[in-house]
Amino acid sequence: MADELAPVAAFVMPGMMSSPPQELLGRLADRLGPKGYSADPADLAPWLTDWRGRYRGQAAALLSPASAEEVGAVVGLCAAAGVPLVPQGGNTSMVGGATPDSTGDALILSLRRMNAIRSLDREANLAVCEAGVVLETLHNAALAEGRRFPLSLAAKGSATIGGLVSTNAGGTQVLRFGTMRSLVQGVEAVLPDGSLFNGLSPLKKDNRGYNLTQLLIGAEGTLAIVTAASLKLVPAVGSRVVAWAGLASAADALRLLRHLEAAIGDVVESFELVPRTALDLVLAHVPGTRPPLAEPTPWNVLVEAVSPIAAASPEKPLYGALRSALELGIIQDVAIASSEAQAGELWRLRETISEAERQHGPAAKHDISVTVEQMPGFMTAAAMEVEERFPGTQVIAFGHLGDGNVHFNVAAPRGAGPDWVDGEGTEVSVLVHDLVTGAGGSISAEHGIGQMKLGELARLADPARLAAMRAIKHALDPAGIMNPGKLVPPADGPAGSLARERLNP
Ligand code: MLT
Ligand code: ZN
Repeated sequence: MADELAPVAAFVMPGMMSSPPQELLGRLADRLGPKGYSADPADLAPWLTDWRGRYRGQAAALLSPASAEEVGAVVGLCAAAGVPLVPQGGNTSMVGGATPDSTGDALILSLRRMNAIRSLDREANLAVCEAGVVLETLHNAALAEGRRFPLSLAAKGSATIGGLVSTNAGGTQVLRFGTMRSLVQGVEAVLPDGSLFNGLSPLKKDNRGYNLTQLLIGAEGTLAIVTAASLKLVPAVGSRVVAWAGLASAADALRLLRHLEAAIGDVVESFELVPRTALDLVLAHVPGTRPPLAEPTPWNVLVEAVSPIAAASPEKPLYGALRSALELGIIQDVAIASSEAQAGELWRLRETISEAERQHGPAAKHDISVTVEQMPGFMTAAAMEVEERFPGTQVIAFGHLGDGNVHFNVAAPRGAGPDWVDGEGTEVSVLVHDLVTGAGGSISAEHGIGQMKLGELARLADPARLAAMRAIKHALDPAGIMNPGKLVPPADGPAGSLARERLNP
């Protein structure tokens, strides 16, 4: 099991890391008070496991500071004692990025009490949010001001701004607005020595050297603790149209994307690929769902087109473009939502795929990218190879085709138990990652590395990239107290589950 792996602690000098001393725990309890400190196993329990239930860790205490100043004090005290910290927001990591290891050496640093929207400026189109603000809360606050924060994902009801920044989250609207990297104007963060980096400035131009904000985005809490971020807003949705198209192949889905781009331009904000296999799982496992088309089709695409101006609805242009796609044989059928309720129903079919998969049974999950043009051919060839090499498995690849990113999940043969994932499932992952790396793609398009892909990053990443990552980590966090065992593979330690099993089968 993944939780039985030897802990990987990058860059911790021998003897530096030990179970948190009682004296430190006492000082943290005094500094944070009863609302900010708990060593009660019942309070800790929900935060010791990731939401997928793949990793289980230990920690002596849950620290919940209420301000950046308190985060600074916590980090300073832990740095002095050489005690590592695992930052946590909504605990929705897909790669075990927020779960401590099983030694109990680390403390959990929860940012959930830092949940203020410090400002929301509709003229400047900027919101400054503390790390613990839940994404959906920001969506609602922006809407109340006629604005929108244009990043959305299935976990929007629990994912927090600090986690989204730290993982450079993507989601279902990257096509038009990009990932967090393009939506963050600046961050405030506590560095590993406890000092505060204030990069929240709204300056459009600032050329004072290294871009620390961009360095901390996607750093998975291994370089600093993000305490707040200034985020770019766009005008609220004036009107939107959601359609569900049925297609014969993934190649036709790419043809449809190009057809829509040529016909109606960048009003297309979402372009999500759903194979029939994934739709069938949703219909079987998610109550209240129903087939969107009269006859099932091998592939489906959910399209959302948005206009910021209510009077300039994208409905007619999208309708026209889909009709011509039907005439050209690019799509086989289409349903267009005629109300917000119907639009919500279509989105539910897409957003509950992960949940339906979880109920269906074990699967080896992958979050891969190649170029958008490559993806249909890659998916088809890779699926054939995987299903041939591992009889009984079934590839269910879905997601963000418009970004060249799909969740290339491989369901276990019928009747396989949960330990399949850590047995044959790891061999499947090695094959998928070899194929995607061979095609010049990435083994992590949007979920990050966390602890799950640490070994695979060590095995497959370009040595120059790894050396630079290690050098940056060591320069900023020489004692290795920031989220150890995540993202940065140690130079000499065990590389992680997949690589280890490969070396010592
Ligand atoms: C999604 O696109 O639905 C998420 O990234 C979740 C997943 O990969 O299962
Ligand atoms: Zn995704």
